[in-house]
Amino acid sequence: MRLDKMLSECGVASRSEVARACRKGLVLVNGAPAARPDLQVDETTAAVVYCGALVRYRKFVYLLLNKPSGYISATEDGSDPVVTDLLPPEYRRMGVFPCGRLDKYTVGLMLLTNDGDLSHRLLAPKNHVAKSYRFTCEKPLSNDEKTALEAGVDIGGYFTKPCQIELTAPCEGTITITEGKYHQIKRMLEAVDNKITFLERVTFGGIALPPDLKRGEWRELNDEELNLLKNS
Ligand code: URA
Repeated sequence: MRLDKMLSECGVASRSEVARACRKGLVLVNGAPAARPDLQVDETTAAVVYCGALVRYRKFVYLLLNKPSGYISATEDGSDPVVTDLLPPEYRRMGVFPCGRLDKYTVGLMLLTNDGDLSHRLLAPKNHVAKSYRFTCEKPLSNDEKTALEAGVDIGGYFTKPCQIELTAPCEGTITITEGKYHQIKRMLEAVDNKITFLERVTFGGIALPPDLKRGEWRELNDEELNLLKNS
């Protein structure tokens, strides 16, 4: 792989920045200065040092963010802050994007990656990947309403698939769904004449929101979490 491709793919620098750094002798490959940005390197074994820092090549990254309220699930937006604003620039340069959407005021577990295939698999309706949300609603949910929601309700011409609800208080609980229609949970509660007042995603495909990850904080997935996701 070309040296400049390697460095730009892993978010270290743009190709023009690599060319400039090469001219200044600031890029070392296996200990020797790289004279040209098109130098061929074996990205899996080469020791590449860019401006003094050793570079670890990887094509894909997988991040877990505790989304705060008020952020849009996108990589850019004309007026509001977006979830990728919360990440260091190297991840943005690597093309990381949110895997699925949470509404602007929904908080909690959000996955971000530049692995389009995995994201596609996790979001494909036929794969029924489970997601759970802690919710608070405006009015107490009766047993009949809970049963109706669990069986499936009409959210404007679409009948939702069966889901599970665990109530922890008359107006509070956890709902687990295996699909992701637009504003699905809000619309489900509206279908039983109620209203969501708080929504937090707490699991996605077997991964749980880590209790020590504060709102707005992110970290890379560990190997165990990544395997769980890949097998979900
Ligand atoms: N359902 C909703 O209504 N909103 C979300 O953000 C996620 C699921």
